[in-house]
Amino acid sequence: MSCRIAVFGTGYLGATHAACMAELGHDVLGVDIDEGKLAKLAMGELPFYEPGLPDVLRANIDAGRLRFTTSYQEAAEFADVHFIAVGTPQKQGELAADLRHVEAVVESLAPLLTRPAVIFGKSTVPAGTAARLGARVRTLAPATGQVELAWNPEFLREGFAVKDTLHPDRIVLGVDRDRPGNAEAVARDVYAPLLEEQIPFLVTDLATSELVKTSANAFLATKISFINAIAEVCEATGADVSVLADAIGHDARIGRRFLNAGIGFGGGCLPKDIRAFIAMAGELGAGQAFALLREVDSINMRRRNKMVELAREAVGGSFIGARVGVLGAAFKPDSDDVRDSPALNIAGQIQLQGAAVTVYDPEAMQNARQLFPTLQYAPDMTAACAGADVVMILTEWTQFTAVEPTDLAGAVRRRVVIDGRNCLDPVKWRGAGWSYRGIGRP
Ligand code: UGA
Repeated sequence: MSCRIAVFGTGYLGATHAACMAELGHDVLGVDIDEGKLAKLAMGELPFYEPGLPDVLRANIDAGRLRFTTSYQEAAEFADVHFIAVGTPQKQGELAADLRHVEAVVESLAPLLTRPAVIFGKSTVPAGTAARLGARVRTLAPATGQVELAWNPEFLREGFAVKDTLHPDRIVLGVDRDRPGNAEAVARDVYAPLLEEQIPFLVTDLATSELVKTSANAFLATKISFINAIAEVCEATGADVSVLADAIGHDARIGRRFLNAGIGFGGGCLPKDIRAFIAMAGELGAGQAFALLREVDSINMRRRNKMVELAREAVGGSFIGARVGVLGAAFKPDSDDVRDSPALNIAGQIQLQGAAVTVYDPEAMQNARQLFPTLQYAPDMTAACAGADVVMILTEWTQFTAVEPTDLAGAVRRRVVIDGRNCLDPVKWRGAGWSYRGIGRP
């Protein structure tokens, strides 16, 4: 059955969700307050890089199933199902999440709902938010008692957004147990093609659904910081963390994925989500348990400093007068996102300490320039390495992992490479006359 859906927020999450819901055959209206962004989307252009999404976007606009608007009135009249997909960034100078965009959607939308509707929150929020917003909806909506709020957290990864939305590992739906309604039945209609694929569908109370999302990201962050802590021990003992990760990863209880040691996690999600989790636990009086996540955060940030130290050593103890070629600016490959990117953070620190730093990234150049205008940017890999005393691989794009030592040998001043993602073959690089340093490997 085709549903009439409005998706509020057209960033990574919202644009992907809107396009993919249309791909499932629904009639979808994407809603945002940013007219410029909507104008681009309506022409089938994405304001960010996400492999595969432009095709889904264009196909569904052409098929007439996907439109965009700034009008909440239009959305309220058009849709029976509303998804909130706006951002919940970290508050300036605090650990907690800033919920103002989510709250703004509810405050603007609910008073316009004059007939039965379900609002599904997708944004990542602290436990207790959905219950509070549900009460607000009941106060504001003219269709008294007929507008329900449920929570349906999103687990998509940047770079795999379409696949993760159309074929997720699981669908989680939090419903208000005190007010049984239609949310589950509506979600089953919306996600019918996915449920036919036997994708696990878990219905929970509201708080559990909110916590599932934050716990999943906290676990992933912990896994990365765990292997990075082991990398520190490997560095002290001469062991090799990559081989170690392969070996422990064969244990199905541990698993090899998310065990890549390196410069750590960044992006718009993991860092701010673990911090929001710590803040929430503190407010609820369960703060002690979250000493763990504070440590996860500091292990992660320590990797960035370690990388700067490694580079300083590599150029002879001082960055003054040194040239550093940085390959990678995005927080991970297949993304142009530079939010809290370890790569740019490291490049920025090195430059502030006196080096001339030149950066190249296949997709994130424009965003990187905006965030760090004082770094130098090169049009390609070889140009970024021209005259370099040290080359640093900080994002494991395929074009960097596939590079041959001979490709860069002619460009650099000294053949020194630091592999911040353990993505190069040390034997090959050393064999070609380079000095190679990885993370937690000899
Ligand atoms: C993350 C989660 O993986 C998604 O499930 C979640 O939906 C999303 O946050 C969100 O909350 O919206 P994403 O931020 O796209 O997705 O990126 P990840 O693929 O998780 O990578 C995060 C960071 O960890 C990157 O900087 C990556 O380089 C780093 N990482 C990842 C490692 O350092 N080592 C690894 O082994 C894996």
